[in-house]
Amino acid sequence: MGDQCALSSANDSNSGPPVAVPALRWEELPEGPVLILLDQTRLPAAEVELVCTDVQTLVGAIRSLAVRGAPVLGLAGAYGVALAAARGFDVDDAAGLLAQARPTAVNLGYGVRRAVSAHRRALASGADAEQAAAAALAEARALHAEDAEASTRMARHGLGLLEKLSPGGGYRVLTHCNTGALVSGGEGTALAVALAAHRGGLLRRLWVDETRPLLQGARLTAYEAARAGMAYTVLADNAAGSLFAAGEVDAVLIGADRIAADGSTANKVGSYPLAVLAHYHHVPFIVVAPTTTIDLDTPDGASIDIEQRPGHEVTEISFPQAPVSEAGGGMLVTPLGAQAYNPAFDVTPPELITAVVTENGVASPVSAASLAALSPPCGPG
Ligand code: MRU
Repeated sequence: MGDQCALSSANDSNSGPPVAVPALRWEELPEGPVLILLDQTRLPAAEVELVCTDVQTLVGAIRSLAVRGAPVLGLAGAYGVALAAARGFDVDDAAGLLAQARPTAVNLGYGVRRAVSAHRRALASGADAEQAAAAALAEARALHAEDAEASTRMARHGLGLLEKLSPGGGYRVLTHCNTGALVSGGEGTALAVALAAHRGGLLRRLWVDETRPLLQGARLTAYEAARAGMAYTVLADNAAGSLFAAGEVDAVLIGADRIAADGSTANKVGSYPLAVLAHYHHVPFIVVAPTTTIDLDTPDGASIDIEQRPGHEVTEISFPQAPVSEAGGGMLVTPLGAQAYNPAFDVTPPELITAVVTENGVASPVSAASLAALSPPCGPG
């Protein structure tokens, strides 16, 4: 189906705006349109772009987490459909491959359906293949702009909630995984709220869970926090309990991959234990997510499909220059053949969530009714 992703540029940088290179962008090259991704597997050591000329390459990039995080997966899905249409591939085949690349983040399928619907509508109204491809691209761009706008509004609502819960600022915020500009058309979800607090002089410390096994916190959130000049500290995930016990956490801010109709929230594995800790220590546990992450068709947490990832992500640690083992290419840290349990996400029940912050406002207490009131009816497909 075309070339493998090619490396197009690289630089090393640790200061400046939150992210130097956008998580993804569309470009019209002389040889045809391409979707360019910032390869998040290479951060923070290097900012390397992957050029996707076909959907199979993009699917590989989604599976390897070169592009990751719920909102931007929606954008990747929509642009992927546009790429298939523009390059003359079968759009339905491409949509199927993209939507199934990862199961948990509801945004991926949503983005795919938006672009496919636009493509179909164009064809049904008499457009030729080129015009239909342009319609799919326009829809991807519209979703991109909506996501950026949602990010700005979530930051405003989230900061308002922090100020209401704990007037006066000086916030010590704990976050998990990565929820900044790397996952968004804008500045992200939970990290966008922390960034707004930072810009307002209200953030005392950002506690960054390293987020084993793939270190999205240590590698990506710390990268974004450093570039933004935030006061941040990285901790091993299992150090969070002692921070709560010492009274060092004022709020937990996390994102979401899918919020079921009853408010059960799937997010990066390790979120649920943080919610239990926060509940025990009477600390607000706040989920920040666009309404595109609310899935009213999924009734509850048990109905959320949780991605299981390869065991080598747990049994090996990968460094770019490390000696290579046979399974995942990293350094083995377990006995050879050890079994691993590696769910990518866990589910936090609504009773442990203080509030869900969306671009349309705040649901608190979190319930089917409060979420439905913020969430527009189902989109296309
Ligand atoms: O496996 P990942 O890195 O795609 O997981 C991402 C997360 O769990 C994020 O917290 C979630 O997508 C919210 S991003 C705004």
